[in-house]
Amino acid sequence: MQAAATLSPAPIITPNANGFGAEVTGIQLKDADAASFAAVEAAFNRYSVVCLRDQRMTPPEMRDAIKRFGPLETHTLLQYTLPGIPEIYVLANIEENGRQIGAHNEGIGWHTDLSYKETPVMMTALYGLICPPEGADTLFADMTSAYEALPEDEKRALDGLRIHHSYQSWMATRADRAPLTEAQKALTPDVKHPLIRTHPVTKRKSLFIGTGTVWGIDGMDRAQGKALVDRLVEYATAPRFQLAHKWREGDLVLWDNRCTLHTGTLFDDQKYKRHIHRMMVKGDLPF
Ligand code: SIN
Repeated sequence: MQAAATLSPAPIITPNANGFGAEVTGIQLKDADAASFAAVEAAFNRYSVVCLRDQRMTPPEMRDAIKRFGPLETHTLLQYTLPGIPEIYVLANIEENGRQIGAHNEGIGWHTDLSYKETPVMMTALYGLICPPEGADTLFADMTSAYEALPEDEKRALDGLRIHHSYQSWMATRADRAPLTEAQKALTPDVKHPLIRTHPVTKRKSLFIGTGTVWGIDGMDRAQGKALVDRLVEYATAPRFQLAHKWREGDLVLWDNRCTLHTGTLFDDQKYKRHIHRMMVKGDLPF
């Protein structure tokens, strides 16, 4: 007689009242069977930001768990990737053996990850190993609700516009960063994406905007294009579209870069340590 397959417990999914963001408890993602994993993936597509509480994962277990969502993306800058596991990028204000083990205060400013690539990543995963008891919240903004709340004439005016990203121009303004190598430049040509993007799973439309690498709007005077994007970012990140994630150790937060903006926030880095592992899953060509 064949032994019955062991089933992992079903996740308990608790969405926020406004439908943006959800908390997942009751499972360890690394042990999830196909049905539990599918429930988490469906929650991710539906609620855009999901936080799995109380996860316990080694770096290889995290890599294997996140790989189930799709092919992994490595970071453009390799300086802070985890030795032996280049798919994990370290965020930390910790020094070991005279070397900073991770990037500190990265990701401050509203953005979606790798939006300067032709195929930006669809998912980012952050796993909290050491979390300050105050500060360092990660803020998210719901680009689908922000789009849907626009007046119809503004939706029509934005329809067809393409947003121009220039990673190289942005990096050239960063005095804190080493100049890009020729190989890094070859991987990061300028790209243009639709400013209104359709989610490939839910088919809902979102604003696909940001700061940092945004150069302007294709075919528009640069200052005018930047001003338009800045105005949209200000509108779409207003408190009514926002969610603040307050970190607890063991949190695994997954967000959908196709329909959200996010930003890190500061904390007292003289008083507290922060140590986070970050991974990204490849996405599709925005349409
Ligand atoms: C990020 O932008 O990926 C990092 C956000 C954070 O550190 O809270």
